[in-house]
Amino acid sequence: MNRRFLAALGGAVLALSLAACSGEGAGGGSSTGDEKPSSLTIGVSMPTQTSERWIADGNSVKEKLQAKGYKVDLQYANDDIPTQSQQVDQMITQGADVLIIAAIDGTALSSQLQAAADAKIPVISYDRLIRDSKNVDFYVSFDNYKVGVAQGTALLVGLGLLNKDGSKGSAKGPFNIELFAGSLDDNNTHFFFNGAMDTLKPFLDDGTIVVKSRQTKIEQVATLRWQQETAQKRMEDLLTSSYNDGAKVGGVLSPYDGISRGIITALQNAGYGPAANPLPVVTGQDAEIASVKLINDGVQNSTVFKDTRLLAEQAVLAAEAFLQDKEPTANDTKTYDNGVKVVPSYLLPVETVYKDDIKQSLIDSGYYTAAEVAAGQAK
Ligand code: BGC
Repeated sequence: MNRRFLAALGGAVLALSLAACSGEGAGGGSSTGDEKPSSLTIGVSMPTQTSERWIADGNSVKEKLQAKGYKVDLQYANDDIPTQSQQVDQMITQGADVLIIAAIDGTALSSQLQAAADAKIPVISYDRLIRDSKNVDFYVSFDNYKVGVAQGTALLVGLGLLNKDGSKGSAKGPFNIELFAGSLDDNNTHFFFNGAMDTLKPFLDDGTIVVKSRQTKIEQVATLRWQQETAQKRMEDLLTSSYNDGAKVGGVLSPYDGISRGIITALQNAGYGPAANPLPVVTGQDAEIASVKLINDGVQNSTVFKDTRLLAEQAVLAAEAFLQDKEPTANDTKTYDNGVKVVPSYLLPVETVYKDDIKQSLIDSGYYTAAEVAAGQAK
C-alpha cells in the first residue's frame, strides 16, 4: 500500500497503525510526513576531516537541519572504509529516518544500503555517487563533468593557449604538462578526468601540449584517497624520471587543492619558483583557504569553487521532502547511472576562481573574509 496515499488520507492514527502492520517501527525510516522534526533524526556520514571541504559540508548540513528542528547524527570516517560502513550501520540500528552519505568508496556500501531500504530509510548520496546499489534514492552534487572542463580550461588559459573568454590565446607552445587524477574509487574522479581530458584533447592531438612522462591513463595518474603526500611523491618521481634532461614542466592538471599543494611542494623542492625558473600552471578544486592564499600570491593558478553551502541546502531540501513523504526536486535524471539505475539528481553549477576572481567569488559572497585569505587560514 502506498504510504503517500495513506498520509493523504490523513488520520495520523490510521497511518500509524498501518505503518505498524507493515513493520515500520517508530524512528527508523517510518516517517509518515506527520511527525514533528524534533522526533526525526537524520544520519549524516562524511568521509574525512583531513580536507576542509568535508568539515564545511558536515557543519553546513548539520546547522541547516538543526535550524529546522531535526536531530542530526553527524559522523566522519577518517577515510577508512570499514569505519564508514560501521557508522552507517549504527545510524540505521539507532533509527535514523533519512541518511545523507558522502561515500569514501562509492562501491563499498551496498549491504548498508540494503539494510536502509529494508528499514524504509531513504538514502541521499551526497556529492559522490554511491554505485552498484538500487537503494540510492537521490543524488545531490555539482556538475562534475564541468568541474573537469573548468580544470582543463584553466590549464590552457594559464599556459596562454586560450583566453578567459574561450578565444585563442597568443602562446604557441609546445608545453610539457603532467596529469593527476583523484581516487579511483570515487565516482567523481572519472567525471573530473573525462571533462579535463576532453578539453585538453585537441591540444594534445596537435602537439601543442605534451605529457612528457606519457602517463595519460587514469589508472596511471590517480591518487588514492586524494592524498597530498601521495601526489607530492608522484610529482617528485616524475621530475626524476622525465625531467632530468633539463626540460621544464609547463603545467600540471590537478583535480583538488590538497593534491595541488603536494605538487607545488615537490616542484619548489626541485628549484621551481624563482622568476628564472617559474612554477608551472597548477589547477585545483574546492577553494581551500591554503590554496586560495597560494592563488592570491601567484603560486597556484586557479581552483574550482563549489559552494558547499548550496550543496548542503539541497541535501536538506531532499531530506525534508522524503520526511514529508514527497519526492525531492531533481534537475537531472539522465547523467548519473550508478551501474544499477539512473539516480535522480540535483546538480549545482561550478565556478573557476583565478586570482582576479577571489574578491568577488569568495570574499564578497561571504565564503571567506579578506583577512582569512591573506592569512591562508580560516577561523
Ligand atoms: C569531491 C571534491 C574533493 C575530492 C577530495 C571529491 O569527491 O567532489 O570536491 O576535492 O572529493 O575530497
